Amino acid sequence: MYDKVLVTGSNGFVGRATVERILSRGHDVRGLDVQPTSSISGIEYCSCDVREFQQVRDAVVGCDAVVHLAALPSPRFVDGPSTFDVNVTGSYNIFEAADQEGIQRVVQASSMNAVGCTWNLDDFVPDRFPMDENQTVAVSDPYSLSKRISETLGQYYWHRSGISGVALRMPGVLSEGAIDSDDFLAFRNQMRSFLDEFQTRPTAEQKRLLGLVRRQVLEFRATRGLEFGTDVPEPTGDDLGEIPEGLWEQYMWQRFMLWSVVDVRDAAQAFAKSIDADYTGAHELWITDRVNSLVYDSRTLVTLFFPGVTNGRGELAGAESLISTRKAQALLGFSAEYSVADVLR
Ligand SMILES: NC(=O)c1ccc[n+]([C@@H]2O[C@H](COP(=O)([O-])OP(=O)(O)OC[C@H]3O[C@@H](n4cnc5c(N)ncnc54)[C@H](O)[C@@H]3O)[C@@H](O)[C@H]2O)c1
Repeated sequence: MYDKVLVTGSNGFVGRATVERILSRGHDVRGLDVQPTSSISGIEYCSCDVREFQQVRDAVVGCDAVVHLAALPSPRFVDGPSTFDVNVTGSYNIFEAADQEGIQRVVQASSMNAVGCTWNLDDFVPDRFPMDENQTVAVSDPYSLSKRISETLGQYYWHRSGISGVALRMPGVLSEGAIDSDDFLAFRNQMRSFLDEFQTRPTAEQKRLLGLVRRQVLEFRATRGLEFGTDVPEPTGDDLGEIPEGLWEQYMWQRFMLWSVVDVRDAAQAFAKSIDADYTGAHELWITDRVNSLVYDSRTLVTLFFPGVTNGRGELAGAESLISTRKAQALLGFSAEYSVADVLR
């Protein structure tokens, strides 16, 4: 039905894998990226800046569907106005040009950051576990804001023009081979050992250290130390005082990302299925591995790091992902084919 698919950001990390997967399903692909030449041979290619409407309008001519991935993918390396410009103006231009061309399906890369998470200045707390698409939005950085607004653009063009599509909320995407790399496995085993050891400590000490790390993490995040142009180094070693480095890593990073990852081949799977699946409307969908990245008991992670969230905690089984992909399974037939659970050693 959607013979020719325009893939924006086709030279990028997720874009290259997505082009390959869409081609394997029998579609023609036109790549689009701001770079002068395509990094993928054998496809039609359009060098285009998504901020420039006329360039985008020309690029969609003759296409039947769009996968929109082009973006500046973090608040760390570019300033807020640039992120807003590429990610929001770029998304608007893509949807508007698709609409003018009569295209009826546009799928886009969103992020777990569309609800908050990784870059939050303040705490991020799921309403329930596993977290689902009804999660309260609490974004506080330019990148996350841009992703949330782009999701709203998807809703807008569904109501305005009947363009159906999904916004795939991805966690950190792992490159092919990462899940069974020595580095990944060593990190995971180190963190699992740390958590095992931490739980042998007296309850009062666990609580005291969790209180200390929480205070320091929230103080650090409030400095905007994670954003471009803010030169605040993360505390390490002696600066952490009594806080073990493993606890800092867990609280500062893994907790805010809900120990979630997705393999790039599964991200590509989800984008390809989003083109072909039979649905109407505009939907935000979570896309993750089926287990948490440490393959650690999920109820233990929640009890230690989100003690105030009891809603749904009892439903978590084993190392089940703290984010539900049930909606993506129902709408797209998505389930992770490459799981960190498959390489436990
Ligand atoms: N990689 C992740 O962990 C991750 C997680 C969640 C969401 N995402 C989202 O997935 C999408 C792809 O991310 P990625 O990791 O492949 O990033 P990437 O940086 O590898 O790819 C993005 C591509 O967009 C292109 N681009 C940038 N500005 C452009 C412009 N003005 N006009 C046209 N093209 C432009 C870049 O040249 C690049 O090839 C992004 O929307 C990102 O926000 C990524």
